[in-house]
Amino acid sequence: MTSFPRDFLWGAATSAYQIEGSPLADGAGPSIWHRFAHTPGRTRDSAHADVACDHYRRWEEDLDLLAQLGLTSYRFSIAWARVLPEGRGAINRTGLDFYARLVDGLLARGIVPCATLYHWDLPAALDDRGGWLNPDIAGWFADYATVLAKVLGDRVPLWATINEPWVVADAGYLFGAHAPGHANRYEFPIAVHQLLRAHAAAVHALRAEGACQVGLVVNLEPKYAASESPEDQTARDRAEHYMNRLFLDPVFLGRYPDLLPEIFGDAWPHGPEAIAEARVPLDFLGVNYYTRNVVRSDPSAYPTGARPVPQPGATRMTTGWEVHPPSFTAVLRWVTERYGRLPIYVTENGAAFYDPPRAEGGRVEDPLRVNYLRSHLLAARDALAAGVDLRGYFAWSLLDNCEWAEGYRQRFGIVHVDFETQERTIKASGEFYREVVASRGASLDAGA
Ligand code: BGC
Repeated sequence: MTSFPRDFLWGAATSAYQIEGSPLADGAGPSIWHRFAHTPGRTRDSAHADVACDHYRRWEEDLDLLAQLGLTSYRFSIAWARVLPEGRGAINRTGLDFYARLVDGLLARGIVPCATLYHWDLPAALDDRGGWLNPDIAGWFADYATVLAKVLGDRVPLWATINEPWVVADAGYLFGAHAPGHANRYEFPIAVHQLLRAHAAAVHALRAEGACQVGLVVNLEPKYAASESPEDQTARDRAEHYMNRLFLDPVFLGRYPDLLPEIFGDAWPHGPEAIAEARVPLDFLGVNYYTRNVVRSDPSAYPTGARPVPQPGATRMTTGWEVHPPSFTAVLRWVTERYGRLPIYVTENGAAFYDPPRAEGGRVEDPLRVNYLRSHLLAARDALAAGVDLRGYFAWSLLDNCEWAEGYRQRFGIVHVDFETQERTIKASGEFYREVVASRGASLDAGA
């Protein structure tokens, strides 16, 4: 039976805005999320991340949690506006030092740091200059990458440029559910283009400073047609091009997927080859996987004409997302088959479920999350057996945190956070994961 490689990274992931709190401390500049969350009506319950998990002040305790869980790697993101309050120009040393201490703290505990440059918290000062719509952003992003690589390049072996660029464009510029809250089909293609250019520029910048392993993180949701009708099949294809291929085709094939002009009509200004510059060889791809989509044709479903069809009998998360482990194996195989066999890290995988209150003795029982982790780790192992070059797995998330516009209602943590007291409690899923890690996956067979 296939087992996980000896040097497989077993980790957990977080992002700066979602956990740090203290967004303006020690000279940090505001981010678009800070601004968005403080705009009335933008987030559920008017939630913001002014405190969040207070990780900016409790980071050592959180690193101890990683060590208690026996994890061998930690994926975190860097808040651009802590390091460069205006997004460019003057460096805020105190902000930079925070991440240097975090990295040293990881290394002291024998945990491999995996840093993401951009997890959605653009400095507000750059949004004032057009943000992801301004072609200068490739240069701003590359300069920011250079600042970090100069200071941390020798200590951080794994760098990701952008987390889920599709969500940045889709939620930030097409639907407006995320910061900066624009809903404009003419802006979406421009944001996509600048995200790709910025990614490529940052890869060059990181490598110029000696960073060894550089990659991109995308979120992928396999798309299936609800029937064999040609309409449903075509709707599926459009959904696939719109989401799963939008960033990967440019990055690995140097061209935009074919169906974008059909989806966006006159709002899509780019020819297929317009993004050849995005094709920069990567050391790894980060894949975030949560769910799949079964779709049927429905011309009113904006923008692809593909309407998700809820699957009867499926387990769903509190986000409404279907739990479907075979699609996890399928998507990892799809990446390998379509783009070639390259090292892949699962940079996020996890689930939001209702967690019962802490029981006597402080236990948090979360059996649905345990099942999710078990079934998805087995699915990851199936992908390894099928020849996927899988190098590591990061559970999303280390901590319950601020789930963007959804606030604190969606709990994804393997560690429970009491947001009144900031007390952390490892959930049953965290205990389960600890055993998996300690046994390098062997314990998965016990309860399967
Ligand atoms: C993001 C995380 C988010 C998670 C759950 C991913 O899209 O990278 O920041 O919390 O999914 O929605």
